[in-house]
Amino acid sequence: MNKNRTAVITGATSGIGAAFARILAQQGYDLLITGRRKEKICAFADELMAKYGVTVKVSIVELSDDSQLERLIEEIRALPDVSLLINNAGFGKAGFVAGDVDRHLQMLRVHVFAAVRLTQSVVGRMIAAEQGAIINVASVAAFFPMPGSVTYSATKRFLVTFTEALHTELMTHGIHMQVLCPGMTRTDFHGKMGKEGQDIENRYPLGWMSPDKVAELSLKRLDSHRVVYVPGVMNKFLVRIVSKMPRCLYYPLVSRMRT
Ligand SMILES: NC(=O)c1ccc[n+]([C@@H]2O[C@H](COP(=O)([O-])OP(=O)(O)OC[C@H]3O[C@@H](n4cnc5c(N)ncnc54)[C@H](OP(=O)(O)O)[C@@H]3O)[C@@H](O)[C@H]2O)c1
Repeated sequence: MNKNRTAVITGATSGIGAAFARILAQQGYDLLITGRRKEKICAFADELMAKYGVTVKVSIVELSDDSQLERLIEEIRALPDVSLLINNAGFGKAGFVAGDVDRHLQMLRVHVFAAVRLTQSVVGRMIAAEQGAIINVASVAAFFPMPGSVTYSATKRFLVTFTEALHTELMTHGIHMQVLCPGMTRTDFHGKMGKEGQDIENRYPLGWMSPDKVAELSLKRLDSHRVVYVPGVMNKFLVRIVSKMPRCLYYPLVSRMRT
């Protein structure tokens, strides 16, 4: 049991964030979880409190909104402890050229600005406590720049570099950093982009995982020195192949693909 430990998880209404919340509640962590679908996340918090006897606070936050983000930071400051921060909230948006630019800028705010701001708000406290951990949820898309995933891949790549660089600043302070890079995961993510589950699984058949498995593996690897963590054998294999592939072969190969 982790008595008096608190974890903050953004985007825990469903999917990977909810899976993290369930495992950590089971381990005895108190939680502060965020989301926007109020009814769903409040019912989830009630379920976790009843089942595991922990305290679960809910913050309804649109993370692309500065004032709501600041309110969340105040709520985090008021917590007696922050042992673990998981910057997980995120969404996909296909299409760049003809797309709605505001949605791409919103993605920058959620994936990049909010993660930087929240990390910065807890890190001083973790250094003072000489313990703590931060998981930034990126994606294998960070390693696969491709059509239909322009801003998404770029923001997730930012998280990889940000986490690795911060690790080099924090590694002597007892703080564990991880950038989690899942591949295809069965969550609400694809449905929100208007994609039917079976359709997308047929188009991209490789490496699908459950959010529970992704969160479980991530937490198991958190204490190791593996800062960039890609869960799943197939996802690891794909990242390795793509990273080694000459760009003159890679670009033509992916140019006709769409996520
Ligand atoms: N599913 C995949 O295949 C996959 C693969 C690689 C990486 N990921 C990453 O995994 C993370 C979790 O996604 P998921 O797959 O678990 O999807 P999900 O089930 O849709 O969960 C996404 C969470 O993020 C929250 N969120 C999204 N946009 C937000 C915003 N503007 N402001 C505040 N909260 C926001 C959602 O809140 P509400 O639902 O309450 O609005 C929800 O709680 C994301 O960062 C995603 O990029 C997913």
